[in-house]
Amino acid sequence: MTIEREAAQPPVWQNDTPEGQAPVREGQDWSSWPTYDSAVLGLRDYWYPVGWAEQFGRKPQTVRLLGEDIALVREGDEIYALHDRCPHRGVPLSLGRRQFPDTVSCPYHGWTFELKTGNLCAVLTDGPDSPICGKLKVRTYPVAQRLGLVWIYVGAGPVPPVERDIPDELLEHDFVMGGRSDIRNGNWRFAAENGFDEGHAKYLHNTALWRLFKVMPAWNKTRIQQEGPWLVRVQEELHWEAEYPGLGVWTNKRWWKRMPLPDRPGKGSRVNPVIDSLNIPGFVSIRLPGLLRVAYPQFIHYEWYVPVDEDHVRYVQIMARFERGLTAAAFKLKYLAGIRWLFHGQFTGQDAWMVDVSDAPPERLYRPDVSITTWRRLVERSKPVVQTRPLRAKDES
Ligand code: FES
Ligand SMILES: [Fe+2]
Repeated sequence: MTIEREAAQPPVWQNDTPEGQAPVREGQDWSSWPTYDSAVLGLRDYWYPVGWAEQFGRKPQTVRLLGEDIALVREGDEIYALHDRCPHRGVPLSLGRRQFPDTVSCPYHGWTFELKTGNLCAVLTDGPDSPICGKLKVRTYPVAQRLGLVWIYVGAGPVPPVERDIPDELLEHDFVMGGRSDIRNGNWRFAAENGFDEGHAKYLHNTALWRLFKVMPAWNKTRIQQEGPWLVRVQEELHWEAEYPGLGVWTNKRWWKRMPLPDRPGKGSRVNPVIDSLNIPGFVSIRLPGLLRVAYPQFIHYEWYVPVDEDHVRYVQIMARFERGLTAAAFKLKYLAGIRWLFHGQFTGQDAWMVDVSDAPPERLYRPDVSITTWRRLVERSKPVVQTRPLRAKDES
């Protein structure tokens, strides 16, 4: 009798050790990365961008972040964030009214909460001596405004400055930027993996208008290198065409396409001095809690994968050019006239499509997925606090 054994799984090449390439085997499920596997709702103890500051006004609005519903209210220059649930009967405070400065009143029975502390400071339908006043509060969240975005911290313990979670170059240099923020289908981990995925751009995006006049490689050899908080994809070999045995040649070269600048900002013929000074060894980098950086010679694209809930991700994209004066103004125009819809629309719309339809595990990885497995290992090694469930009523006093 012949016993059929399951075919051995192909090795996945990982390059994130100082020793260089070493073959390792990964399973088809995510049990090799238990923390990552459980991080369906995201990672706590980080600041997350939730929208543009200008879109939040005196009227309360709700956002969902790591599965928690949060009401955002502006008072003057400040924006406040409260758990979007009135402790009385569970009505969203984001439906509430602004009866007094620095407060929000629930629309149902008029329980009124201080924006800054969340303390119940008045109950309009129970008179000025309502005995429940001062006895309970709704949870508040730290809020910051940076890069024109509103940031919320979800976590416990001492709150780090928001600057910890923003790339240094955006804090230390002048720049002009354009950006978009949308909620897209799919879990945040698929969005992050798609962003740092070595394999797809040269195939999925070779139909994108953004790449209409630029050749994409057929395949690459890549290693992943850690630089401070970033993992960087470093291209060791670029192959612009290849002969596939028994099939023929496959290439993205066309007569109307020109070869792009070398796939490394530091080697471009004209590199912006700020970008040059960053000495990034590769085109694409990722860091916790889910921020991608794509460094072109003249500008840098950043995208944040902000967990909304199990099946949705807030996709915040900005394109920054480190210039002042006329060059900066010209870039702003260029962003509005082209980049916004070509890159931040149609190009990354192809990513949104794939994130929406991805369904793993199970999965069978291939060599270029070293980018994905190294990212998962980074999360695992960092021992983050995983958001296991959103804030519930009983978590509030
Ligand atoms: S439910 Fe909010 S005041 Fe009653
Ligand atoms: Fe992509």
